[in-house]
Amino acid sequence: MPETVVLRFLLNQTLVEEPDLPPDLTVLDYLREHRRLTGTKEGCASGDCGACTVVIASEVNGSLQYKSINSCIALVGDLHGRQLITVEHLADGDKLHMVQQSMVDYHGSQCGFCTPGFVMSLFALSKERAVQEESRRSLIMSYLGGNLCRCTGYRPIIDAANSMLDQTAVQQDQFDQCETQTIELLQSINSQQSSSGFLRPESLNQLFELKAQFPAAPVVSGCTDFGLEITQRLQSFETIISTTSVAELNTISLQEGVWRIGAGCTIGHLLTTLGPLHNDIRELLQRYGSTQVRNAATVGGNLGNASPIGDLPPLLIALNARVVLKSSGAERVLPLAQFFIDYKKTQLAQNEIISAVLFDEQRLQGDGEFRIYKVSKRIDDDISTVCAAFHWQPSNTDGGRLTAAFGGMAAIPKRAATLESAAKDILAGTFDPVDAALALEKDFTPIGDARASAAYRIEVAKNLFVRFVLECRAGEADQPLKLSDVAHG
Ligand SMILES: Cc1cc2nc3c(=O)[nH]c(=O)nc-3n(C[C@H](O)[C@H](O)[C@H](O)COP(=O)(O)OP(=O)(O)OC[C@H]3O[C@@H](n4cnc5c(N)ncnc54)[C@H](O)[C@@H]3O)c2cc1C
Ligand code: FES
Ligand code: FES
Repeated sequence: MPETVVLRFLLNQTLVEEPDLPPDLTVLDYLREHRRLTGTKEGCASGDCGACTVVIASEVNGSLQYKSINSCIALVGDLHGRQLITVEHLADGDKLHMVQQSMVDYHGSQCGFCTPGFVMSLFALSKERAVQEESRRSLIMSYLGGNLCRCTGYRPIIDAANSMLDQTAVQQDQFDQCETQTIELLQSINSQQSSSGFLRPESLNQLFELKAQFPAAPVVSGCTDFGLEITQRLQSFETIISTTSVAELNTISLQEGVWRIGAGCTIGHLLTTLGPLHNDIRELLQRYGSTQVRNAATVGGNLGNASPIGDLPPLLIALNARVVLKSSGAERVLPLAQFFIDYKKTQLAQNEIISAVLFDEQRLQGDGEFRIYKVSKRIDDDISTVCAAFHWQPSNTDGGRLTAAFGGMAAIPKRAATLESAAKDILAGTFDPVDAALALEKDFTPIGDARASAAYRIEVAKNLFVRFVLECRAGEADQPLKLSDVAHG
């Protein structure tokens, strides 16, 4: 069991000890109110604007890994053993950092409110090693996708990013130069320590002991949802159990044809591992929140919050994924499609946590067709209006089997059972999109809300299925649509 002692981390280059901070204190409030480091700004307090962006450096396999996060929804207790870098620390004495100088040179700032956040996102980008020329623009867009600017316009900021990358390719900054010293300082922090109220177990056993001791304490991971309880719903919490240091939850492996994704893995980690295997998965994960969100948000959090518009459930349900629920000394494995019961209600028992998700390699890389589509108002940093994932498994005996999973169409992420069996019924005949619409109308009665009307959702869902069929039959779009063609597509 970790001793409850003191929170220790590097604030820029200074080792800080904080014995008595509230567990629900955000990093942003800590910086602005406790440290008077007001360079980091508050815009939305909900992870959407990037004004509060800071960079966290962690020691990974003997070198520092730099990640941008939204400090408004990150909790200060999670800083233990890491380095928090803020905009005040970038300049080296009187000399601006390359990132700052590029923003000046290319006129990347007007009112300046968004500027510290952009500078910190660009600083994180400057730490990308070996940027390929052909992927440079998309990398810049991905690092800036979580930062809003209302007055400068993005082109000068993109120009500044380009100039900065030219420089960082050939020059070190003061962070590179003192990397060894920073790592030594980070290693001197005893990982067993933790601030009062913010509990950081390092193993599942410790986590279950703490859960038994503090049954009412929320178990949180990346805090990208939970943070809003504090900043938007103004809730306070005396005790919080964080999963971020539990090593067993943080791995992704492929063994004997089964992918095992630890619940604590971030979306960024998932993107690096599964993105190269499938274009649609890469695109979906690249459009999941922003870089800051993907650096913190986890797989377990996305399933645990049970949002009807979460992006992972449709993807994983179409892959026939199973969810592993663990309690002290016990484990059960459920089909993910059965995990969601009703709006924000799941099968998770009070004494359990989500420990992993499993799916078969064959499902993704076999002879079936798999696609996932996200429809949202913006490309970057936007939640889905409708998300649809389809898997078609051809079969010589009965033609094949469709699995269709939707987000944004019901109170829970859900399979479209009527569409799945209609797909079988129309297997031998001409496929008429009206059939899909009728089937989907039986499967779903979506609600209309600020994001979209019910009619729009049904129309989009139908169109996404038609698109799936067309894509499976690539190049044969002028032919009558037959699902049987998908089998041979
Ligand atoms: C700006 C912004 C953009 C976003 N964009 C997207 C998007 O594009 N797509 C999308 O799907 N989501 C999006 N989200 C929502 C959110 O980022 C995801 O749901 C995320 O995956 C939650 O993970 P987390 O680790 O941050 O969860 P947390 O906030 O830590 O926890 C969320 C919930 O899950 C529970 N939980 C966490 N870990 C576990 C576990 N191991 N076992 C059991 N319960 C657990 C917690 O108790 C809590 O109830 C966005 C959020 C923000 C703020
Ligand atoms: S203040 Fe807007 S993302 Fe944090
Ligand atoms: S410079 Fe004003 S919001 Fe960006």
